[in-house]
Amino acid sequence: MITLLLELRRVTVSVAGRVVLKEINMEIGRREVHVLLGPNGAGKSTLLKAIMGLPDYDVVEGEMYFEDVNLLNLKPYERAKLGIALSHQNPPKLSIRTSYFFTKLIEKYGGNFKEFIDYCRKLNIEHLIDRELFRGFSGGEIKRVELLTVLSQRPKLALLDEPDSGVDIDSIVLVGSLINDLVDRGASILLVTHTGTILKYLRKIDVVHVLIGGKLIYSGDPGILPKLFALGYERFLNYISTC
Ligand SMILES: Nc1ncnc2c1ncn2[C@@H]1O[C@H](COP(=O)(O)OP(=O)(O)OP(=O)(O)O)[C@@H](O)[C@H]1O
Ligand SMILES: [Mg+2]
Repeated sequence: MITLLLELRRVTVSVAGRVVLKEINMEIGRREVHVLLGPNGAGKSTLLKAIMGLPDYDVVEGEMYFEDVNLLNLKPYERAKLGIALSHQNPPKLSIRTSYFFTKLIEKYGGNFKEFIDYCRKLNIEHLIDRELFRGFSGGEIKRVELLTVLSQRPKLALLDEPDSGVDIDSIVLVGSLINDLVDRGASILLVTHTGTILKYLRKIDVVHVLIGGKLIYSGDPGILPKLFALGYERFLNYISTC
């Protein structure tokens, strides 16, 4: 019986010839919700992209397993087939009609069009489905549609890169409920957030990770969050190093 979903062992990632992540260790179990925080440029998006296997994000050292399968030689679509899905911080605009794109996702991953339409209503994005994907969408519309692309892939592991940034306070409730739906369907979550506003809408958080300067300086109890938000990253780093 495989208990761990994702396991990273001393993973070092280089981007454009520069080491961005250093010796990252991380273990994500089934149906666990992990939150990743860190200052701008710390390497949060890089970590998600490296797990997804995007080109340019080279794992130069370490090991990466998903359900005991070595991810390192797998292409992004092969990782997607295993059950990993990434919602991008800034998804590319595509010259394809949104409803057609979702039809293809439904064909590939199962599900049905009625469920898609129900979610569009719930997320107030029905008016977007006849438009080209992400083209001219507002920041909040992009986040809601992007999150729905992840849900439609029925992932075992959802990598969510700032699903709450640029989202208004009403829509953030919707984003939170969609993340809870992902967990209810059996997914584990690795969620990057800056403000932490989204966190109060999540039904549970299992582990918090803090990434500074490409190193994970904290992985553990979410009870640390008030301390982190009170101190800020620089003083939190000092606090942790003296603990
Ligand atoms: N494709 C790329 N080419 C060159 N440098 C990159 C690339 N992707 C990331 N980097 C660099 O790697 C570092 C980490 O970037 P990353 O996007 O992972 O940070 P982040 O923690 O997600 O920051 P933010 O909170 O601003 O989103 C930055 O210095 C960034 O410029
Ligand atoms: Mg980022």
